[in-house]
Amino acid sequence: MTEQIQPVRGMNDVLPAQITAWQSIERAARELLGEYGYQEIRVPVLERTELFKRAIGEYTDVVEKEMYTFTDQGGESLTLRPEGTAGVMRALISNGMLRGQRHKLWCAGPMFRHERPQKGRYRQFHQISVEAVGFPGPDVDVELIALAARLWRRLGIARVRLEINSLGTAEARRAYRERLVDYLRAHHEQLDADSRRRLQGNPLRVLDSKNPEMRALIDAAPVLTDHLDAESRVHFQAVCAALEALGIPFRVNPRLVRGLDYYSRTVFEWITDALGAQDAVCSGGRYDGLISQLGGESTPGIGFAMGIERLVALLTQAGQPAAPPAADVYIVVSGERASAFGLELVEQLRDALPGRRFELNLGGGNFKAQFRRADRSGAALALILGDDELARGVAALKPLRRDAGQSESPLPDLAAAIETALAATAVHT
Ligand code: HAM
Repeated sequence: MTEQIQPVRGMNDVLPAQITAWQSIERAARELLGEYGYQEIRVPVLERTELFKRAIGEYTDVVEKEMYTFTDQGGESLTLRPEGTAGVMRALISNGMLRGQRHKLWCAGPMFRHERPQKGRYRQFHQISVEAVGFPGPDVDVELIALAARLWRRLGIARVRLEINSLGTAEARRAYRERLVDYLRAHHEQLDADSRRRLQGNPLRVLDSKNPEMRALIDAAPVLTDHLDAESRVHFQAVCAALEALGIPFRVNPRLVRGLDYYSRTVFEWITDALGAQDAVCSGGRYDGLISQLGGESTPGIGFAMGIERLVALLTQAGQPAAPPAADVYIVVSGERASAFGLELVEQLRDALPGRRFELNLGGGNFKAQFRRADRSGAALALILGDDELARGVAALKPLRRDAGQSESPLPDLAAAIETALAATAVHT
């Protein structure tokens, strides 16, 4: 036998059995974002590599180790997007959409990171990312968090909690960075290899180390929140006060630094204890310097992205949403003429009853086999069309999910008879 082609490691198929959970998350998010005044934007999956280097930062794990980068036939370095924010900001700049305007946008789709795959961490994964551009005040920070909190309620997701922090302005962070570097250098012999490397390029990321042996050292390190500039402090206090007023529980986590360099001031993460190590289901923050860094006119921004795979896992843990039956009516055909007419009849029925799901028996089979398929389709009703019925200008209807006899209907009245029979079934279930 010819050798099978294997899927790419860390890239998953979403099978029909899982699609209901995906669609219910996507639908709930789309509806809620509309209610909050966010509009969808779609941007390419491929961008110039330079975009991500400049936006995410040269010394981040994502840019250093995880990007799918290649040179195309024209000699240009392109990268499969590892996240959504950079592309959306690039689109606002490229399309001249800034100029003092404000935008509330969302963007959904696959992202690509060459990480080590494990439960909840994949090389192709999906995000819905939400971005508010042109809003400098803390009100939008809070509204975005409230939006996410509402989405969890709508989806019935309970096992998530909110952590927030402020990273201050870029200048405040620079000053803090110097103090942190002094501290880490003074304890250089206690740093693991990863942290030594991070100390060179991106010392703040040392705080993010998951190595338990680094815990004590990190706990004793200077805290960014103690070195915030005055404006960021006021901004952060306003965010915390408004969250309290809205009754949204949160924990300030002074070690929350995020893995992408474009953040300033508010950062936050929704964490779950239900998925093991990959515990962030939704993360984001403010990126007031990003647009100017990408060559656009200086405009503040804030946003977050949720990981769909992780939300699906949470939702299915709480009980998989039931898939709706594939069909309402299964059409059983027998005899040569009836089989040919079946194709015509089902198209007429689709015209007459839009929205109803008809499944025509395809590929023949005896009555027994056809009724087995009808049962598996989940249909409430079988429509039976044989040469004999056809000769008399009728079709038979048989309820499949309740004890009721078969009835006959003249072909011209069939649509009405189907509706009546389905309504009777709905009353019985
Ligand atoms: P991020 O924290 O890198 O932020 O990713 C956001 C979310 O995507 C995570 O909380 C997680 O749920 C999911 N995620 C990330 N990596 C993976 C992976 N390898 N496999 C499965 N899920 C994953 C961003 O991407 C920012 N662009 C968010 C943002 C939008 N900030 C401002 N606006």
